Amino acid sequence: MSYRYQIVTVFGGSGFIGRHLIRRLAKSGAIVRVVTRHPNQANFLKTAGSVGQIVPMAADVTKDESVARAIQGSDTVINLIGALYETGPWSFQTVHVDAPARIARIAKANGVRKLVHVSALGADSASASAYARSKAAGEQAVLKEFPDATILRPSIVFGPEDRFFNKFASMAQISPVLPLIGGGKTKFQPVYVGDLADAIGAAVYLDETKGKTYELGGPRTYSFRELMELMLGEIHRKRLLAPVPWGVSEKLGAFFEKIPFFAPLLTRDQVELLKKDNVVAPGKPGFKELGINELAACEVMLETYLARFIVGGRTSTLTRDVGKFHKYPSAH
Ligand SMILES: NC(=O)c1ccc[n+]([C@@H]2O[C@H](COP(=O)([O-])OP(=O)(O)OC[C@H]3O[C@@H](n4cnc5c(N)ncnc54)[C@H](OP(=O)(O)O)[C@@H]3O)[C@@H](O)[C@H]2O)c1
Repeated sequence: MSYRYQIVTVFGGSGFIGRHLIRRLAKSGAIVRVVTRHPNQANFLKTAGSVGQIVPMAADVTKDESVARAIQGSDTVINLIGALYETGPWSFQTVHVDAPARIARIAKANGVRKLVHVSALGADSASASAYARSKAAGEQAVLKEFPDATILRPSIVFGPEDRFFNKFASMAQISPVLPLIGGGKTKFQPVYVGDLADAIGAAVYLDETKGKTYELGGPRTYSFRELMELMLGEIHRKRLLAPVPWGVSEKLGAFFEKIPFFAPLLTRDQVELLKKDNVVAPGKPGFKELGINELAACEVMLETYLARFIVGGRTSTLTRDVGKFHKYPSAH
């Protein structure tokens, strides 16, 4: 697909999903504005395109004029802004509801042809989790301002810079025990970041995606425990997987939230989120309806980026038996 000379503005484009998407958009010939609070930290993306093709841009998403400057002249706007926990003035309401609503309103006023809003699987106005409720409110706010917007709800996203497998693999470097929050039974349908970038590209390109919501899950469903076993197998480590009951998990969340200056390892809201399975609802439009049929499974992709956690590297014989012992059965 080609977006030659189209201007595509990506809010939150320097984050984990954004950087993969920007590379794809650049290959398709688009001129890409990467909107961020710290444009100097997005400079590394410039090399993904030709000179002047990728333009990091500062914007304050709480201010109309700043958002309007970023959007002016754009054919397409993609919103990837999101946060897993609240910090200082950045409440879920500000980041997941007010900012997307402002982007949608200003995009509409500027004649933007396509708006793609990336939400999250589990977005639910009745959820016990403030994150999930704010994601649902954000979707509604976007559709109110821009009824033709396309909404994408991915399950947990994995890839080289993910904050799921990398976080637990780092933890396994120093800890003999890994916690299984709520017993580790919660189900996930992990999506490879490259497949999600393709889905966002298709949502931009296909006219029939206007006004629709897509639920995006990967090719397999795993429990939290199975994901930990798979990760340990990939990094050739044997660790005790300790089920932590919900009540204790909530107390752990409350403890980690209080540690200042560091990103919390767990919050009470994340514990609430983990109480519900994160899988695609049957019958909902998804990858297939976006024309994407081949999806990357964890078993194939994890070894491409978790090898750095193997003692002695990928070819090491040092811990290989441990890896075999732990490898998730469906990987064979
Ligand atoms: N990763 C997953 O597993 C996953 C799963 C489901 C849904 N999602 C959703 O997908 C979207 C992208 O996720 P991601 O994993 O790429 O997240 P990410 O790496 O944390 O990037 C999110 C981006 O949001 C921006 N942002 C955060 N707080 C902001 C604020 N207060 N004001 C302005 N910008 C702010 C950041 O921009 P700056 O450059 O300004 O810091 C950052 O680039 C999010 O909406 C997320 O909820 C992700």
